[in-house]
Amino acid sequence: MRKSFFISLEGPEGSGKSTQCALLTRLLTDNGYGVVATREPGGTAVAEALRRILLAPGRDIAPLTELFLYEASRAQHMAEIILPALRNGKIVICDRFTDATIAYQGYGRKLDKNVIRQLNNIATQQRIPNLTIILDVPVETGLRRARRLAKDSAAGGDRIERESAAFHRRVRRGYVEIARGEPERVKVVRARDTIEKTHAAIVKIIGTVLNLNVI
Ligand SMILES: Nc1ncnc2c1ncn2[C@@H]1O[C@H](COP(=O)(O)OP(=O)(O)OP(=O)(O)O)[C@@H](O)[C@H]1O
Ligand SMILES: [Mg+2]
Repeated sequence: MRKSFFISLEGPEGSGKSTQCALLTRLLTDNGYGVVATREPGGTAVAEALRRILLAPGRDIAPLTELFLYEASRAQHMAEIILPALRNGKIVICDRFTDATIAYQGYGRKLDKNVIRQLNNIATQQRIPNLTIILDVPVETGLRRARRLAKDSAAGGDRIERESAAFHRRVRRGYVEIARGEPERVKVVRARDTIEKTHAAIVKIIGTVLNLNVI
């Protein structure tokens, strides 16, 4: 059986996480790897229900409530999807994970990062990704992309996308600082170029780390 591997993709709104997760999943699957692609918040029925609460515009959610809902969703996702997949030797590709909570709730909402780290540890049962790729784009570029995509773009996107430019700049800075603090696990990829160029940069990193010669 192949050794399991856990990859998370992170980055601000519209940085291309979902696009790149899909491309990477296809590449690895085409090369015979068992891949489980999933996302946060979400990935299970319970966690997708929490996602709808978290992302629906128009609700006023207190920062601590928001944090607990993300962690609740993560605990379910870990127990139901990620840990079983890793136990089965799969490559798990997760669209957003614990670093998003540090970036958004820690840097963005200014909640205590140590508290968030503790809650992350509890929710994940201490399992950290083997590799995290942060897609870095200027805030305005990402928001423009995300809003173009959003069905409700006329009304300004989901609850988080509607946050101020200052909030999104803190999130981006948060991601940069996370990468600086854990250079072994976390790699930053410049995501302002084309989808293809960004994919190539990700493949190069994955190929090295996973020691794949098929790609
Ligand atoms: N490198 C790129 N250049 C231009 N457009 C891109 C690029 N990557 C993705 N896009 C487009 O930008 C939009 C947002 O991309 P995507 O949904 O992958 O981002 P995301 O990081 O998952 O966003 P969100 O944070 O909203 O989930 C999509 O319409 C996608 O096709
Ligand atoms: Mg996405």
